[in-house]
Amino acid sequence: MLRIWLVGFGTVGRWVAEALYAQTDQLVSRYGREVTVVGIGNARDGFVYHPDGLDLGSVLAAAAGGRPITGQPGARVWPTAIEGLRATEADLLVEVTGSPPADGEPGLTHMREALRRGIPVVTSNKWPVALHGVELAGLARSRGVAFRAESTVMSGTPVLSTLTEGLAGTVPVALRGLLNATVNQILSPMAEGTSYQDALAAAQRAGLAERDPAADVDGHDSVAKLMILSALVFGRQLRRDQVARQGITGVTGRQARDAAATGGRVRHVAALAFAGPDGAGTVTARVRPEALPADDPLARIDGVTNALVFEASPVGQIVIAGPGAGPQLAGQGVLADIIATARYPARKSLAKNGAGNRPLFGVTRS
Ligand SMILES: NC(=O)c1ccc[n+]([C@@H]2O[C@H](COP(=O)([O-])OP(=O)(O)OC[C@H]3O[C@@H](n4cnc5c(N)ncnc54)[C@H](OP(=O)(O)O)[C@@H]3O)[C@@H](O)[C@H]2O)c1
Repeated sequence: MLRIWLVGFGTVGRWVAEALYAQTDQLVSRYGREVTVVGIGNARDGFVYHPDGLDLGSVLAAAAGGRPITGQPGARVWPTAIEGLRATEADLLVEVTGSPPADGEPGLTHMREALRRGIPVVTSNKWPVALHGVELAGLARSRGVAFRAESTVMSGTPVLSTLTEGLAGTVPVALRGLLNATVNQILSPMAEGTSYQDALAAAQRAGLAERDPAADVDGHDSVAKLMILSALVFGRQLRRDQVARQGITGVTGRQARDAAATGGRVRHVAALAFAGPDGAGTVTARVRPEALPADDPLARIDGVTNALVFEASPVGQIVIAGPGAGPQLAGQGVLADIIATARYPARKSLAKNGAGNRPLFGVTRS
């Protein structure tokens, strides 16, 4: 049994709760692990906890009906999530609150609380990881538990697990990427003559861009993702002011058409490189519009898509591309992280139940 605290019950939190509710049997049959949500928190209602598991259908119905999520039979309630976390037990924290770029709170405090107690963390919450990723990953490592943040970069496209697990043992050298799918959607039609203002308005009508699009078009979101890649893939913590940032608001239709005339494209490129191996030495980190030649793999990426070109020794260049916007993608990345964590239970619980290194599912040899 994997007991989950789910902190943040907005778009992503509810998507995850619905997926866990709908896939209860499948999680047991495919992954050999029963998953139950014992605690749920949001800002408005506080934190609700039942040690035997909450009725997700009932909590989801309360949220959908605008009723407090805390009115669950037999459950205990705290006014804030952090008080609930401190007073209760679980095997995994799923942290999906929204946290501002200034300090990454309240997510940072929630994650530190869990990791310090040896409880693994899965999160889609960008800024705590961008600002403190090395600390959080180090804390997890020191406690022998997982810290996973797949959805923070390229949402449901599995980039962090590919770079840190699929390419484990390689030496990361550098990367370049298109890390904001909304921005890519705005730049794409500009190659055919659409103005920036018209492309932005179309993205807003489609629900892709916010009414205030600054986080995307000014490049702040891509800066956060570049900082996360630096922390979790290269092991190097960057400050925000170490990433040079230029948004796309100054890109003209003429620049976009000129690049397209020779088969290239103007794209918003996030780039990261270090003078030494494994994130050592002087860092070059920047987010800016660039006119890419036709043979650049990033020039071929159109629409609501993210892509990353990653260089590692000795494998060379790896290109990863995939969809990168929408709560179902972020939710899917969180679900994949939950399943990955469930497959490899924490050292603490292994020691407690005396299971040693024996896997809790899959093939066991006697
Ligand atoms: N939506 C996406 O497509 C997407 C994609 C990738 C990453 N993300 C990231 O995933 C996270 C969640 O996104 P979202 O779209 O689900 O955001 P959201 O709809 O705004 O939901 C945020 C949730 O966090 C809760 N919250 C805020 N402060 C809290 C506190 N102090 N204690 C407990 N709960 C608190 C809110 O409570 P109330 O409900 O009471 O307001 C709400 O339930 C964000 O960090 C976002 O950047 C989202």
